[in-house]
Amino acid sequence: MSSTPFHPSTSFVGRQFIELGIAESTNKTAAEMLARGELVHGAVILAHEQTAGQGQRGRTWSSAKGLDLTFSVVLFPAVLKADRQFILSKVAALAVHDVVRSMVKAEVKIKWPNDILVERRKIAGILIQNDLMGENVSSSVIGIGLNVNNTVFDEGILATSMALECGGTADRWHVLSRLCERLEERWKDVEHGDDLSGPYAAELWARGRWTEMTLDGASIMARPMDVDPSGRLILELEGGQVQAYGLERLRFAGR
Ligand code: BTN
Repeated sequence: MSSTPFHPSTSFVGRQFIELGIAESTNKTAAEMLARGELVHGAVILAHEQTAGQGQRGRTWSSAKGLDLTFSVVLFPAVLKADRQFILSKVAALAVHDVVRSMVKAEVKIKWPNDILVERRKIAGILIQNDLMGENVSSSVIGIGLNVNNTVFDEGILATSMALECGGTADRWHVLSRLCERLEERWKDVEHGDDLSGPYAAELWARGRWTEMTLDGASIMARPMDVDPSGRLILELEGGQVQAYGLERLRFAGR
């Protein structure tokens, strides 16, 4: 256990806490520790620096050493069918959304599937890697990268941070504690039968707005409406039809 000021008011998220000065990727460390049976439900692995941070779709994730938050939370869902695993994205996205929204004045939304935006700028990314056993999810590694105190981003990247949005420096341990608390609360909601579809849809970025998207490589205009239980984005198309598409076919333009 470390002597850091990390004291979440939780019963399981963050009770096992592994603090690393440097790691390739906390998701990778979590997967290795999982394979060795070293982690319990709710374990949190945090690195102050990642040398090979992983992003969605094989991209990399950059964060500023000692300034941002890069960590992974491991859950062992008691019963979660593989075809309902998108619920983990909802839990993570809503938890991060809850915390950012509580600290930032501007509008905070979830860009499907689980980017967190402040207005049009990305403040957090989430990479979820699940292990399946038969038709159930046996374990989940929820990797979260949140821009906290970094204020300088590469040109052309539409990003922001808590420091830029709030002014001044944010206390990373405080933010991490709040994130753990909201993750636990959102996960408990799921265990009590809530599929989180209402809150997730309510916070969906560009909901009901005509938006440029790419479907099978072709540009389309569509209105995001909701997600279906498998996590596909439900769209209204220009002809008025309503269709759901997954990440393998659909993305927002400019990504
Ligand atoms: C994205 O592309 O938006 C997802 C980024 C996820 C980054 C986090 S940082 C902690 C964890 N470890 C990783 O290597 N990636 C995730």
